[in-house]
Formats: sequence, C-alpha cells, structure tokens
Amino acid sequence: MTVADKTAKFTSVKTSLPGPRSRQLIERWHKAEADTTGFQAPVVWDSGKGVIVTDVDGNRYIDWTSGVLVTNIGHSHPKLIAAVQHAVTKLINNYECPTEARVLAAESLVAHLPDHLDKCFFLTTGSEAVESCLRIMKRKTSRFETIGFYGGFHGRTSGAAGIGGLTGPKRGYGPTTPGAIRAPYPYPYRSPVGGGEQGLIDYCMSMLEESVRANSAGSLAGLMVEPYLGAAGFIFPPDGYLTTLQQWARDKGILFTLDEVQSSYGRTGKLWAMQWENLTPDLVCIGKGIGNGIPTAAVAARGDVIDCLGKGDMSSTVGGNPVSSAAVCAILEVMDEENLADRALVMGKLIKARLLQIQEKSRYLGDVRGRGLVMGLELVKDKKTKEPAANLTKQLIVRCAENGLLIGSVGIFGNVIRVAPPLCISEAEAHESLDIMEQSLLSLEK
Ligand SMILES: Cc1ncc(COP(=O)(O)O)c(C=O)c1O
Repeated sequence: MTVADKTAKFTSVKTSLPGPRSRQLIERWHKAEADTTGFQAPVVWDSGKGVIVTDVDGNRYIDWTSGVLVTNIGHSHPKLIAAVQHAVTKLINNYECPTEARVLAAESLVAHLPDHLDKCFFLTTGSEAVESCLRIMKRKTSRFETIGFYGGFHGRTSGAAGIGGLTGPKRGYGPTTPGAIRAPYPYPYRSPVGGGEQGLIDYCMSMLEESVRANSAGSLAGLMVEPYLGAAGFIFPPDGYLTTLQQWARDKGILFTLDEVQSSYGRTGKLWAMQWENLTPDLVCIGKGIGNGIPTAAVAARGDVIDCLGKGDMSSTVGGNPVSSAAVCAILEVMDEENLADRALVMGKLIKARLLQIQEKSRYLGDVRGRGLVMGLELVKDKKTKEPAANLTKQLIVRCAENGLLIGSVGIFGNVIRVAPPLCISEAEAHESLDIMEQSLLSLEK
C-alpha cells in the first residue's frame, strides 16, 4: 500500500500496471501500429476530466502531462465539448472558403495577440506552422539561410527537423536543410562558462556571431527560437537573453520568429511567453493549446511580413475547418473566463516551492526549473558531477503511474521529468500529486 493509497482523494490504482485490459490493448496496438512512440507509463487512457485521467482498467491518475502540453484548459472541458459537438452537427470541412466560425476564430486569436501581430493563418500541426514560418522568412527577405539553436525542437517534418538542434528527428535521414545555421542556447544548469547569467548570455551571443561568421553564405533570412527549450528539457534561458537575441536579429536586418507551439496558452503564467519580455517577434508559431487536442495550429504575424504571400501561397486541407475554428474560440473564452494564465502562475509557485523541498531531500533531483505550469525536474546520478540519470527517469515514470501520477520525460539526455498539468489544477490536486512524486522518487533512492 502506498502513501497515496492511504490519503488519496483523487487517485486510485487498483491493478498492477499495465492492468489486464490495458495489457490486451497494448499488445493489439503493437501488432497493428508501428511501435515508434517514446517511452511512456504502461497505461491505456480511457477518459479525462480536468486533471484526472481514468484508464481502461478503471484506475484514476492525476495528469502532469496535459498530453504533451496540449490540454491547458483541462480534459473534456464542457464548453469545448459543447462548441465542438455543435460545430460537428453543422459542417465538418470546407477547405478554403470562409465560414463564420473561421472568421470568428481569426478575429478572436488576433484580438488575444500582442497588438503588433495583426494577422493569423490556420493550419493543422505545430510542425506545419513552423514550416510555414520558415518559408515566409525566406519569401519575405528573398534570402535562404535560417538560424536555429542547439537543443531546439520544432517538429519532425524536414524543415522543422533541419532548423532544430536535437539529433533524434534527424538521425539516419541524410543531409538536413541547406542554409540551416545553429548556435548554442543558454542551459544555465550546465553552463560551460562562469560569470553567472550575464556571462552565459554573452557566451551564447558571441558563439552565435561566430557561427554566422563561419557558416553563412551571406543570405540570412531570419532566426527561429523557442522561449524556453521544450523537448530539450524545459530549459529556461536567463531573463534578458531573448531580448538580446531579438535586438541582434534587428541589428542584422533579419526576421525574428518565436516558436510558441508549446509555451503559449497560459503555460508560463502569461497567455504568450513572449509577454514576459515584451518581445515583438515578426512571426509566431502556435500549436498544442490552441486546440486542446482538436488538431489545429496557426501562424501569427505582422501584416507587413505575411503579406509577402499572395493568393494560393499558403493553404492547408483541414486548416481552419469549422470544428477546429469553433474550438479555437471556445478555448480562448475559457482561458479568459477562468483566468487560466494567472492561475498557472499561482499554482506554479505553489508546486515549485514544494518541488524545491523535495529536491533537498533527494540525492538525484539535480535541478528544479521553470515558470508557471511548465517545470522540469532534471535527474542526475550525482549532484556534483551532474551525470544524467536516464534510467532512473524511466523508473520514476512507471513508479509514479503505479502510485497514481502520470508524468513524461524530455531532455537532451532523456533525464528531465515534465511537470505540466492542465492549468485548472486545484491546490488539493497539486498537493496529492506532489505527495505521490515525493514518495515515488524517494522510494527509488532506497
Ligand atoms: C516548440 C515546438 N514546436 C513545434 C512542435 C511540433 O508540433 P507538432 O507535433 O504539432 O507538429 C513541438 C511539438 O512538441 C514543439 O514543442
């Protein structure tokens, strides 16, 4: 019996994992669908409500994954369900013709963006939004080189993988996009230089300059950067880095694209992560939270940038369909009505304070970082050497699930736990999930 079993109000795991029904489905799944997805707890999800997920064996968990930072307003929000159900009964797809739903969605999205971003365009996935921004940067400037960052993840399509700075999406596929130049992104926990945060910013900026000097053929179009590195391990740069980078891009006369596919929709405690430093990107990639699971994505842009595209230059088979459009509007309404960005900030502070206490008790929890409801727990074999503990990370994922908490991992070295529950998590749910995390981690250290 676990601590969680004794005190749990929200969670209940009555079977070993996978449970019998889950086991059957996992076996059938691997027979029919290629087994290419990442490591996850052996749980077959059945339904969700708020932050609670129930599996096909009737076990109940608190969800710290939000899918992968998607269900920011919570699983099965009644307002989203109603909007989608209503939309489906009227019209499901229509390609390029406008619908009232699409017009409303575009108006609502633009109204929620910082003022300088006065146009948007709807697509289907984050990778598609990234590809579109890469193309727009090239079309607008008539130049072909784009800058990305070590550890950057922008998706698995060719251009997105090419600009990214992780080997996973590239390995084994031959040469990457010509003209993609990469430079280091600040990783404070593993900084290669002294001088504190400013020293790290200065180092990254000088490496960027050097990389351009060494690699550019003189055709720089723009750069693409994440407000924090997501897949690389929820790595937040020091405050001021992104402002410095934006100014560098402006000084070079190149476009500045922010990939907010996962950092937006209240995740960091503001609707858009760019608002922390009042950044004014020329283009923004949007995904994940914009649809809360209904496949949709968007590009947001300064009008004078996206206007370089003419009729027929950007389109997508199901982008802006009436169902996704209804979802876009409903989700933004919920974000406003429930003040979810502010809520993320408050709950993030509460959760982080307890995670820092757990860090003191743990031999292996090397770093607790992040802002709002996106935090990374970096596990190491030794806090001095910081050697990554990828195996322990996998064990923790399974142990937490056995105790009623769903977590996932990220990280250049596969050793970072994602703390990213839906933004509607309550204090009581937060404490129960933290109890499970603490008990699970410390039990693995015995
Ligand atoms: C920052 C970032 N950009 C782009 C993507 C790609 O989005 P999608 O998987 O919807 O294509 C992701 C997905 O994790 C992401 O985190």
